[in-house]
Amino acid sequence: MDKYIIDGGRRLFGSVKVQSAKNAVLPLFAASVLTDKQVTICETPEIADVFCMAQILRELGADVKFERGNVIIDSSDAHSHIISSALTKELRSSVFMLGSLLSRFHRAVIAYPGGCDIGLRPIDLHLNALKRLGVSISERDGYIYCACEKMTGAELVLDFPSVGATENIMLAGVKAEGRTVIEGAAKEPEIVDLQKFLSGMGAKIVGAGTDVITIEGVSSLGGITYTPVKDRIEAGTFLIACALCGGEVEVEGVTADNLGMLLHKLRENGCKIHTKNDKIRLSSYGRLKCNRRIETMPFPGFPTDLQAQITALNSVCEGGALIVENLFETRFKYVPELQRMGADIEVRGRNAFVRGVSGLHGAAVTAGDLRGGAALVLAALGAEGISEVSDLSHIDRGYSDLEGKLRSLGAEIKRVRI
Ligand code: UD1
Repeated sequence: MDKYIIDGGRRLFGSVKVQSAKNAVLPLFAASVLTDKQVTICETPEIADVFCMAQILRELGADVKFERGNVIIDSSDAHSHIISSALTKELRSSVFMLGSLLSRFHRAVIAYPGGCDIGLRPIDLHLNALKRLGVSISERDGYIYCACEKMTGAELVLDFPSVGATENIMLAGVKAEGRTVIEGAAKEPEIVDLQKFLSGMGAKIVGAGTDVITIEGVSSLGGITYTPVKDRIEAGTFLIACALCGGEVEVEGVTADNLGMLLHKLRENGCKIHTKNDKIRLSSYGRLKCNRRIETMPFPGFPTDLQAQITALNSVCEGGALIVENLFETRFKYVPELQRMGADIEVRGRNAFVRGVSGLHGAAVTAGDLRGGAALVLAALGAEGISEVSDLSHIDRGYSDLEGKLRSLGAEIKRVRI
């Protein structure tokens, strides 16, 4: 098990290129099973979740090769519709495989999905939608068994704009018979990216990025070579790091539209921000002010995947902040670790009350989930003295070479094996 040793208190300067978005790439892996032609996903990040998804495809019988940053998937020999519990428990995104396996084999067996320990994360919306498309579903011994003669398009209304459910229905609907309409769809940039990818394969699908997605089923899909959208959450993590440490950093690859609410909040803190095309430059000097209130919301609201990082920032700003987590009920598990570094935060249910302190101090802390772990790294970079952040397996799920990129900005961070 690796840990970071971080000597905090240094300002960050320079520019950093953002990786392809984890949350865009994972559904594209699932989509690759919709065709027996070759799929190439370019500039794929080397992160644990991607390797896990590759392993899932291999278990199904697909050939998956990593070559010079690209991934080449040939699922022409895929024959299995069963995903073992060892892999689905590691990666919640494996649930997308339901839609694409049903499209390909008309059957799917999958263990209840895992992923970050940040709350209940039910999948009722996914399963109800698949039922409406004609899939019969039963559950026993922790496994979900799905089967259909064929899938038939339907008009679906999501009670909540779930990212995963929207993507799963898109994957099921592109080869279902007739028209599928998703009302109340999620509008995240990664949904738009999935639509582009599916259209490139020959799917008839419009509306991603709005509340209503309409799909006309087609009988077959072709191969594709595709470069996914860049990772707005990784970009946001670097911007918040610079806000917290002070300095001037440019992130390259993400447009301001995809990070609108974060940029608004960072300006409220007192950061100066310039955006041009796919570059965002942030400078932060002097003590920043707390955000009065931040609530996580579906896109274009404040992303839950940046909640921990912005809370770490607020913990050293002047004044107080209320952070409300609306998406995942136990997403403040990193707070006791921040408190070990001197943060003054009180959590009550879905609310965190932050009273800004003048600075944090180094401490030994443990990453308990992906984004909470990133927040601890940022806090340690801004803290006086040495910190150790252990259990990097969570951080490795979503960030490739986080330490290398931070070092290139002037941070003192090294990775050591325990
Ligand atoms: C995706 C992202 C994750 C991000 C989240 C919210 C991927 C691989 N992961 O996760 O990083 O934090 O969006 O932006 O893209 N819900 C239900 N029933 C369901 C499905 C969801 O009640 O069937 C609830 C969840 O418990 C949660 C909310 O809906 O409260 C949002 O979940 P959802 O948008 O589905 O998130 P994920 O797709 O799991």
